[in-house]
Amino acid sequence: MKDEIYKKPLQNQEKFEFSQKVAGVFDDMISRSVPYYEANQIMTSQMTVEFYKENSMIYDLGCSIGTTAHFLNKAFGSSGFSYTGIDNSKPMIEEADKKINEFGKWHNIQFVLGDIENYDYKNTSVVIANYTFQFIPPERRLLLLQNIFSKLCAGGILLLSEKVIEKNQTFSRIFSQLHHNMKKAHGYSDLEIIQKRDALEDVLIPNTTDQNLELLKDAGFQNVAIYHKWYNFASYIALKT
Ligand SMILES: C[S@@+](CC[C@H](N)C(=O)[O-])C[C@H]1O[C@@H](n2cnc3c(N)ncnc32)[C@H](O)[C@@H]1O
Repeated sequence: MKDEIYKKPLQNQEKFEFSQKVAGVFDDMISRSVPYYEANQIMTSQMTVEFYKENSMIYDLGCSIGTTAHFLNKAFGSSGFSYTGIDNSKPMIEEADKKINEFGKWHNIQFVLGDIENYDYKNTSVVIANYTFQFIPPERRLLLLQNIFSKLCAGGILLLSEKVIEKNQTFSRIFSQLHHNMKKAHGYSDLEIIQKRDALEDVLIPNTTDQNLELLKDAGFQNVAIYHKWYNFASYIALKT
């Protein structure tokens, strides 16, 4: 369904939430708002195949409607894998569950309603967190990363994608303008873009590109690389050696 949530002028601007309304249009919303969303899903699934170890779990933090699981399903083909998608939005998990029958029977896939900050993670070789950390209060991000690091096996990875800002304010301003232009090119009006931006204020809090690198190192990851970057979006791979 087409995302038209911010199309009309809103009298009372409410803070952005992952509500029923958002879950219903999420596919359209994220693919028109996040640059190279599909390319990033493909890269996420390729690296997951590369680093996944048998008898371990793949965790997808903030799995939303389960899109990443569908890319993994395709990338793994008939080799089995175990996957748990976690999200604290009930409408998102309900949407994800609607398509649970589309996965290969040899895969063990589940979607769980839960908070990624309190989840009881088991042995894992791949943790995916695409566009989710930005919604965790900044002061709690390190603790969550430390917990993920402790549950990853040696040779395991975290794949982290985030909206970012730059230390240099000129770069930040230009990158943000180019992102605005991209959304316009994808059919959103200036009003829609501005109303959504206002709703996300203090809800989505981006770190700088460098702050994320520092956080990953502080959490224990010695080997970190940026594998995808588009202006104000960055994707990191962090390896536990
Ligand atoms: C932008 S979406 C993630 C998109 C998804 N990873 C993808 O690639 O399609 C962010 C998701 O994180 C979830 N979320 C935010 N904070 C959370 C938390 N503390 N625990 C679990 N899920 C959370 C939201 O409900 C939302 O579905």
